[in-house]
Amino acid sequence: MSEQHHQSDKDPVSGVNTTGHEWDGLKELNNPAPRWWLIVFLITVVWAIGYWVVYPAWPTLSGHTQGLWAWTQFKQLDEQRQEIAARQNTIAPRFDDASLEDIVKDPELQAFARAGGAVAFRNYCAACHGSGGAGGPGYPNLNDDSWIWGGKLDQIYATIAHGIRAHDDPETRQSEMMAFGKDGLLSAQDIGTVADYVLSLSGKNETPLPDAAKTKGAEIFAANCAACHGEAGQGNIDLGAPALNDALWLYADTREAIVAQINKPKHGVMPAWGKRLDERTLKQLTIYVHTLGGGQE
Ligand code: HEC
Ligand code: HEC
Repeated sequence: MSEQHHQSDKDPVSGVNTTGHEWDGLKELNNPAPRWWLIVFLITVVWAIGYWVVYPAWPTLSGHTQGLWAWTQFKQLDEQRQEIAARQNTIAPRFDDASLEDIVKDPELQAFARAGGAVAFRNYCAACHGSGGAGGPGYPNLNDDSWIWGGKLDQIYATIAHGIRAHDDPETRQSEMMAFGKDGLLSAQDIGTVADYVLSLSGKNETPLPDAAKTKGAEIFAANCAACHGEAGQGNIDLGAPALNDALWLYADTREAIVAQINKPKHGVMPAWGKRLDERTLKQLTIYVHTLGGGQE
């Protein structure tokens, strides 16, 4: 392909002057820009001038032009903050007077609780329970409807305010599974047998449990474990004893983890927040956790 410059001349077909540019015999016609294009172009020019006048636009030696509206992101942020504070001042007193049950029934108060609760959860709880409350080994999942200490509003509130095995709160939730192995309450063999039985409650054994082992395991369980975990291993929220007959585990569903727990329980600690956080935040957190997934009536 070659580009050549020629004198501009008239195109014989359209009768329009050419620009003098030619590519392989094709000549460029010297048509004016379409009118609609010109109009849009002029509008953008006017718009830009208007923008320079009212908004900060041009750099100067000492900063930039301020514009007639003197708009800044800081001012905008400040206005938004004031608006939020004003809204909080109307809702907060009503929220503080309302019971947890009232809050759940009132969409506006509930939204206030969830917004504040989400922020507080990220600050104080996510380190252990995960940012979405999904938990991890030793830290219960707060999204599901299986509760160790109960999923009703007042139960969740008590757990958060007083903690679990918290050393600095006399009202903390307390329950100590015995160290059956370490303290010699059960032989290593019996511990293995009852661990297999526990696995069988949720059908987790690698090979089906022989009847004799099942009977023996059930006996040991009834004598040593059922008082806290329930006859069928369904758990007991008054004692904070997790259900052993479901697919959800605080620690792990392996034989090794279960044997370790029976030998020497972990006694997980959750701090008491009652003295660290104000009443409003405690209520917001309670509602937030309650609405995460499995809150109970
Ligand atoms: C230092 C770690 C830690 C922090 C921080 C923590 N938790 Fe916990 N939380 C735990 C542990 C461990 C348990 C389970 C203890 C047990 O029963 O064995 C627990 C249990 C709970 C339970 C009971 C769950 C059930 O199934 O009954 C709730 C509700 C809860 N935490 C909410 C919170 C909230 C809300 C915060 C933030 C204010 C928080 N936790 C901060 C460690 C923590
Ligand atoms: C005094 C009440 C109590 C008794 C008795 C008890 N436990 Fe526990 N158990 C608990 C509590 C409370 C927990 C919660 C975690 C912790 O304390 O470490 C627990 C946790 C467990 C876990 C972990 C569950 C999970 O979700 O990861 C297993 C497994 C377990 N117990 C098995 C047994 C077996 C088997 C026996 C009988 C040999 C037994 N427990 C006796 C209170 C008890």
